[in-house]
Amino acid sequence: MGTVTLTGRSLLTWLDYTEEEIRYLLELAKQLKAEKRRGEVFQRFTGKTIALLFEKRSTRTRCAFETAFGEEGGHPVFLSTQDIQLGAKESVEDTARVLGRMFDAIQFRGYKQATAAALAEYSGVPVYNGLTDSFHPTQALADVMTLEEAFGPGPGKKLVFVGDGRNNVARSLMVICAKLGINFTVIAPPSLHPHSDLIDACRRLAQDKGSEIRITSDIGAVAAAEGIYTDVWVSMGEEDKREERAKLLIPYQVNQALMDSTGRKDTIFLHCLPAVKGEEVTAEVIDGPRSRAWDEAENRKHTIKAIMLATLPAFDAASDAASHAASRAG
Ligand code: CP
Ligand code: NVA
Repeated sequence: MGTVTLTGRSLLTWLDYTEEEIRYLLELAKQLKAEKRRGEVFQRFTGKTIALLFEKRSTRTRCAFETAFGEEGGHPVFLSTQDIQLGAKESVEDTARVLGRMFDAIQFRGYKQATAAALAEYSGVPVYNGLTDSFHPTQALADVMTLEEAFGPGPGKKLVFVGDGRNNVARSLMVICAKLGINFTVIAPPSLHPHSDLIDACRRLAQDKGSEIRITSDIGAVAAAEGIYTDVWVSMGEEDKREERAKLLIPYQVNQALMDSTGRKDTIFLHCLPAVKGEEVTAEVIDGPRSRAWDEAENRKHTIKAIMLATLPAFDAASDAASHAASRAG
């Protein structure tokens, strides 16, 4: 897998990664999934610890980090904001400094992207963004893995996100697709289009790859898509917007008629989960034969393990023994 080295890197947004680095992580995730299927057991995180910080709830992200790290011999420590000082009674910077002295890595799920960035800056260890209001990068890697399991690796595919185009999931997909040359379309009402700064940045990236980033309100733009993706209408922290969103987004529900209107029989359905069946997607679609949402949820674990394996310094038993011997001798 070439000469890609990611040791010590944080993952805050895919904007910081090259196409080659993302492809490396996808290949590694594929290998890890195959190992798991074969029942192979490794201890690649033995002696390591990770702090899992959560300001918001989580099923998949928490379980993916905990099981991926723990089954390889590492010790994950779950810390909700009910348990620790994080911005309350202690600054984020000071918490980061302390956690960096005790843990090999930190996962952060919460509100502000700036908190994830500050943790990375002041802890001195890799920080993984497990979702902020702005981005959900570990999700997007699992999404591309799932798309590629259905249609093979490489650029040129078309993925369409239908729904709240401003949200963390849509934004992360737009970035990763732009980096990888996947044509990406957002279909949303105008008030829920992504911010123009991010669209412009992604369009510049996509141009280099010969792919397209399209933002529209026309539901007909699903034509020829390999993948249709949606997410909840109301993200965590926006619960007061439920009524307004439902009115705006009902015409954008992913139902069987929408799936059929791609004109392809093999279009897959993707959803980061959790889903509100009957709102953004019908039960018929998410529980139906074209849904890959459950593979996608499993792929969270393999991709998160790949990110941690690639970025955590490897424990090299031979050089460790040599350095102990040298310190005893000297
Ligand atoms: N998709 C996702 O991040 O799920 P959780 O909120 O359950 O972690
Ligand atoms: N956009 C959703 C994603 C949940 C995984 C949220 O932020 O709540």
